Amino acid sequence: MKFQHSNKKIYQKLGYSIDQEGILTRFLREGNAWKSHLEHTKQWIRDAYAHKEYSSIAIFGSGWLLDVPIDDIIRDFKEVYLFDIIHPLQITHKYKKYPHVHFIEADVTGGVAKKIYDRITAKSHVRKQSLPQLTQTQFSYDIPFDLLVSLNIVNQLDILLLEALEKHESVSEEEKQDFRYCIQKNHMHLLEQYNYCLISDWEKLVTHTKTRHTHSEPLVFVEPPAHTHHSEWLWNFDSQGLYEENSKIDFRVRAFRS
Ligand SMILES: C[S@@+](CC[C@H](N)C(=O)[O-])C[C@H]1O[C@@H](n2cnc3c(N)ncnc32)[C@H](O)[C@@H]1O
Repeated sequence: MKFQHSNKKIYQKLGYSIDQEGILTRFLREGNAWKSHLEHTKQWIRDAYAHKEYSSIAIFGSGWLLDVPIDDIIRDFKEVYLFDIIHPLQITHKYKKYPHVHFIEADVTGGVAKKIYDRITAKSHVRKQSLPQLTQTQFSYDIPFDLLVSLNIVNQLDILLLEALEKHESVSEEEKQDFRYCIQKNHMHLLEQYNYCLISDWEKLVTHTKTRHTHSEPLVFVEPPAHTHHSEWLWNFDSQGLYEENSKIDFRVRAFRS
């Protein structure tokens, strides 16, 4: 195992560790309800490399590896690059015996998190820029990958950053919308440079527990990739109604591969 990290304290202050702990807590609570979604995701990833001669894979948003067919990937690839803004220690510890598994702690937006942190800690050079301008930065990594998997991350890229920002300044609905759009669009441009596989919650379906009425909220604001290989399924995210009061949450998940 090789391990690279940077800016960890900043990412922790922006709430990434707490958010990750929340994912694990929900997984432990929801175990069976999440099973079908996790299995769909793993199979979509396996199918993305079946019958291909790929030898290296990068996964963006690997986190707890809940939705990653990690044993297959460790067996099937010569080099495995796991990217997350923070890797859970339990995970890096568990896989440290594999020399071809690399844990890279990096912001896959290319540094928007650090820019937001600089802005809220009053660094003037970033204060002058508009929110969409802050997204104008590109991820790069000096080693090429045969396959890039964007794993339930595209709709997550803005959330914690806007939450942190709003504690320090008022942000209009329009600015938030622009920020989300730009950060997601950049992510899509990045994917297009690789053989890629994209899986993401695309829509949130909120069902009121008493009236049974369901409304949907979009989570991804860019056009879906125009691919022949695509799929979608529902993720029974909160079967117990604990995430939002008086509501049950499902996600419509969409998956693409180039
Ligand atoms: C919804 S989770 C995906 C589930 C994950 N595969 C798991 O099993 O825990 C999204 C992951 O993306 C990571 N993440 C969010 N924003 C990121 C960014 N800008 N750069 C890198 N990783 C990020 C989070 O830390 C989290 O682990």
